[in-house]
Amino acid sequence: MKRQAFSIGRRLSWQLMIQAALILGCLCAGIYWATSVQFENAQNRLLANKVNRLSDFAQDYLRAGDNRFLDLLSQNAQNRSRMQLELNHADGRVFYQDLPGEALQLSQHRREKTFELAWPDRSHPPLKGRYLLDVTEDVQMMNAIAMILVLATVLGAITVGFSTFLIVRRGLRPLHALAEQTNNITTRSLNARLYMQEPVEELQPMVDQFNRLMERVERAYLQLEAFNADVAHELRTPLAALIGQTEVLLSRSRSMLEIDETLQSNLEELQRLSEMVNDMLFLSKADRGAHARRGKPVSLAAIAMQVGEFHEAAIEECGVQLAIEGDVTTSVDEALFKRALSNLLDNATRFASKGSTVRICFDKTADNYVIVTVENSGTTIVPENLSRLFDRFFRIDMARHGSRFNHGLGLAIVAAIARMHSGWTKAESDNGLTRISFAIAEPA
Ligand SMILES: Nc1ncnc2c1ncn2[C@@H]1O[C@H](COP(=O)(O)OP(=O)(O)OP(=O)(O)O)[C@@H](O)[C@H]1O
Ligand SMILES: [Mg+2]
Repeated sequence: MKRQAFSIGRRLSWQLMIQAALILGCLCAGIYWATSVQFENAQNRLLANKVNRLSDFAQDYLRAGDNRFLDLLSQNAQNRSRMQLELNHADGRVFYQDLPGEALQLSQHRREKTFELAWPDRSHPPLKGRYLLDVTEDVQMMNAIAMILVLATVLGAITVGFSTFLIVRRGLRPLHALAEQTNNITTRSLNARLYMQEPVEELQPMVDQFNRLMERVERAYLQLEAFNADVAHELRTPLAALIGQTEVLLSRSRSMLEIDETLQSNLEELQRLSEMVNDMLFLSKADRGAHARRGKPVSLAAIAMQVGEFHEAAIEECGVQLAIEGDVTTSVDEALFKRALSNLLDNATRFASKGSTVRICFDKTADNYVIVTVENSGTTIVPENLSRLFDRFFRIDMARHGSRFNHGLGLAIVAAIARMHSGWTKAESDNGLTRISFAIAEPA
């Protein structure tokens, strides 16, 4: 099941919003706590002040049997806004208490301070006092601050989330532009490449890689098109010949001998066509990643001898000698190896100058490759042809292009066989000496 695509913008917005809410929440909680400590300190200072002043007052006026102290306390009660005072004897009897109405009625939000008030003449045990401070206003203030802080946290987080979404959407614009460009690429416009009006550092590697991929796809596509054209071209001539010969044969009555000759010639043509189709099928199998089936280790020089014997007639006909130099024993796909060597030897004999020697050399590299080189002297191949030698249907001599015997697939097959053995190919031509090599990786 295809997983639903997620949005980078939405995901980032949520993540940053939660992060902002957490940070702002912690910050606001800190502010709230610091403010409430400030309030508490102010309340405590106020109560401590009151107690100090009452002590001073008691020093001056608190005498046994003297009511002046109590009178003064009652008078002052009017000024004690938001506060209540209570003074009791040590045995619990009430000594003084602000009457309700004299001071503000206290709500349930109150702060209390207890203290002892000594008689200046120490005639009685100290009075037990209690100040009650109504802190409703402070509580209301703290509630308002809490509301503001919560609101700031929520609004801050929403703003961060929303602005992130907008920023990400804006930031992803080049990506949308690239998607649109990619969307417009068709098989008719494989030469199109992605570009960014304003290069983006993070996207540039992806764009470069995509463009390189497009280059490879375009090349492969063009090769495929050329290959199709080449195949059609290669098939057209022999098919036309076959049709022509058959038509001539049918145009009037023929002797058995004439029919025999035409059929024989047609059969040869059909066999060549069949060989070409088989070669193409082999190449397509190799393209699809077929691997060589390696057998037991064998002497490659011995295989070369067998291939040489197979080509003996052609070698003699061309008036050249064959030399095999060096030997390596390794495991290869014998049938494929023979086919590759046979193709190289066929070319070398055909293109070697009369009386020269065609050499097959075996060598081993330090990185475990066996290199098979077939060398012949003849005409030097110019570099631009050298680089195309392994292309399908490529033949240097255009006059021989329509050759009925050679289709230009031999070296392409050598390259495919090398690839099937995890190897590579190389062609060199200098001073009339042409060396075509293929390497095969030795099994680990
Ligand atoms: N040893 C060589 N010396 C000079 N030219 C060569 C040599 N080997 C190959 N070539 C050139 O490379 C071309 C391609 O070779 P390749 O073996 O692929 O095809 P071919 O020999 O023409 O046909 P096929 O191998 O299918 O019968 C040849 O047509 C020839 O022009
Ligand atoms: Mg060939």
